[in-house]
Amino acid sequence: MSPAPQMPAGALPVGAVTLSPRRLAVYPGSFDPPHNGHLDIIQRCLSVFDEVLIAVLVNEEKKPLFTIEERQEMFHEILGGDSRVRVESFSGLLVDFMDRVDAVPIVRGLRALSDFDYEFQMALMNRRLNPRVETLFMMPKEEYSYLSSRLAKEAFSLGGNISGLVPPQVLARLHEKMPNRGGA
Ligand code: PNS
Repeated sequence: MSPAPQMPAGALPVGAVTLSPRRLAVYPGSFDPPHNGHLDIIQRCLSVFDEVLIAVLVNEEKKPLFTIEERQEMFHEILGGDSRVRVESFSGLLVDFMDRVDAVPIVRGLRALSDFDYEFQMALMNRRLNPRVETLFMMPKEEYSYLSSRLAKEAFSLGGNISGLVPPQVLARLHEKMPNRGGA
């Protein structure tokens, strides 16, 4: 009898073909709106994982500028051509969403030391709630290390030029929401 074929740990035998497990990362956030720092993290995720699922939080208490549909549409407009990226919305606990999509890694961007405290607490709480999940941190390009959706909206609303900080599709949407505002 011929010896059993060698398979990498965790690989799934499918007929005669051996498939490695799909490496899916979830990138959660409010994304109100998406900015270039978010896109930078998504590209970094794609260099490590096979697929990235962008999970947009439904939380009306935060009084978002963009509806959940608008935020998902913006991602589709920006990244729609990339079959490795999916966008979904979620409400409730992130760790429950992780179970629903059967994913292990949560990816979060870490911009500066000021992010650390909140992110550390959230990662440990998520792990306590669901020990199956792991939180991984990635650092965006230095030029985006001060960038947040809140600051981008504020600068735009006060007439600041934020081109180069948000994708053109987002800039166009900001102009629609706040006519006669942004500097570019
Ligand atoms: O872009 P943000 O607003 O920093 O993203 C925060 C987000 C969406 C990752 C976080 O608020 C979240 O996961 N909310 C869902 C509720 C939850 O699971 N909270 C953490 C444990 S109590």
